[in-house]
Amino acid sequence: MNQDEQKQAAGELAASWVESGMVVGLGTGSTAVYAIRAIGARIADGQLQDVLGIPTSKASETEATAAGVPLTALAENPVVDLTIDGADEVDPAFNLIKGAGGALWREKMVAQASQRMVVVVDETKLTEQLGGRIALPVEVAIFGCRPESEYLDDLGAGVAVRRAGGGAEYVTDEGNWILDCAFPPIADPARLADRLSRRAGIVEHGLFLGLATDLLVASASGVEHRT
Ligand code: A5P
Repeated sequence: MNQDEQKQAAGELAASWVESGMVVGLGTGSTAVYAIRAIGARIADGQLQDVLGIPTSKASETEATAAGVPLTALAENPVVDLTIDGADEVDPAFNLIKGAGGALWREKMVAQASQRMVVVVDETKLTEQLGGRIALPVEVAIFGCRPESEYLDDLGAGVAVRRAGGGAEYVTDEGNWILDCAFPPIADPARLADRLSRRAGIVEHGLFLGLATDLLVASASGVEHRT
C-alpha cells in the first residue's frame, strides 16, 4: 500500500466502527476524509441508520454533505459518541499535534465532547516526542496577533510564522490567524499547553493531550489498532 492507500485503510476501518444511532465527530484532513466517505457509503447501502455527523471544519462539512451524511451541531448534540480524526504527530501516550489543516479549534471542541476519539494516521505521524519535526499551530485572534507572536517567541517558538494561503494570510473558519511555531522537541507538553491556554489572544493551540482513546496506525503491512 502506498501512503494514500494506507490513509484510506485507516479511515475506512474507523468508519466500520460507527453504529446506527451514533453522533459522530467528522475530522478534517486527507485521512479523515476517507472515513467520512465510508460512513456515507454505509448509510447509502442501508448498513447505518440515524447517524448524525458533526463536522470539524467547513471542508469536512462539504465532504459530509457530498457523501450523504446527515449533519448536526454541538448545540443540538453536545455529547459525541465517536470522533474520527487525523493528526500531524502522535506520541506514545497518544498525545497529538493537530492543526496543519487549520481546523484545530473546532477539532478540539468536538474531541473534548467525545466519549471516544479514534485517531487515524499513517506511520509517518508517529514520534517519540512531540514537536521538533513539525511546527505547532497556534490560532490567534487577529486583534492580538502581535503581542501573542512575541509571547510565543519568548516561550521558545523560534519565529512564529503567520500561515499564508492563496497569496494572503490564511484565515481559519472562525476568522482568526494561525501562527506556526517551530518549537524544539517539547519535553513537557502539558506545561506548554497550560502556558498557551492562559493567553486571552490565543484562541487555541494544536496540542491535543489526553483526548485520543484509540489509534489506528496504517503502514504498508496493514492497519494496527492501539489502545
Ligand atoms: C486539521 O486541522 C488537522 O488537525 C488534521 O487532522 C491533520 O493535519 C491530519 O491531516 P492529514 O490526515 O491530512 O495528515
